[in-house]
Amino acid sequence: MSAWNAEQYEGRHSYVWQFGGSLVELLQPRSGERILDLGCGTGQLTAEIAASGAQVVGLDGSPEMLGQARQNYPNLKFVLADAASFRFEESFDAVFSNAALHWVKNAEAAVQSIAAALRPGGRFIAEFGGKGNIRLILAALETVLGATAEERCPWWFPGIGEYASLLEQHGLEVRQASLFDRPTPIEGERGMEDWIEMFCGTYFRDLDANGAKEKVRELAAHLRQELFRDGVWILDYRRLRVVAVAVG
Ligand code: BEZ
Repeated sequence: MSAWNAEQYEGRHSYVWQFGGSLVELLQPRSGERILDLGCGTGQLTAEIAASGAQVVGLDGSPEMLGQARQNYPNLKFVLADAASFRFEESFDAVFSNAALHWVKNAEAAVQSIAAALRPGGRFIAEFGGKGNIRLILAALETVLGATAEERCPWWFPGIGEYASLLEQHGLEVRQASLFDRPTPIEGERGMEDWIEMFCGTYFRDLDANGAKEKVRELAAHLRQELFRDGVWILDYRRLRVVAVAVG
């Protein structure tokens, strides 16, 4: 994945962690617990978890995001590591992850790392893009960019069965799983263009800046009829939310 623009992420995409608040409620962090925030981005939910008195470690694979997280929350601990290959010496009471795991195409390796990080009885609470996520945006990418779009897709959006099986294969007992639409409003008339510029860089890697801008405009024009309603862009997000426990 290309480098993240942490400033733009924080400025225009705050819905990413604002929606994550309810996942923190599901986590129910307790004082003294050791919790890993996997894919912590710029650290807002890491801080929300830390407010409970838990000892949190935020982990992210992007140096730009972590740099911003450290600047935002200098008293919290952040670690640069890959979600598909991280290891810690000391185990965690819980692994938490919001809006990150759909970026990890080697999902099995990520689940292995998560399972290895948890103590027996430790919980895994995660939400990310599930099967059918951004269906209209993916279709527009294919229409505008042609056959290469599919191979450039940087995401994996599993269904419940697929993901629950993967967790079970690695010793995580699935206690809850749901797949639900979560239409997500974004700010501004240019909201869709901002979103595409922020997250879809891999699709434009062979184009120069002007060529990419042109494609971004074309994509937004394509999506306008279905995703721009009453003056607001609404992303067609669908989330997979899981709660699982490590069986020891
Ligand atoms: C998501 O949170 O569903 C998402 C974010 C960026 C790109 C694709 C999906």
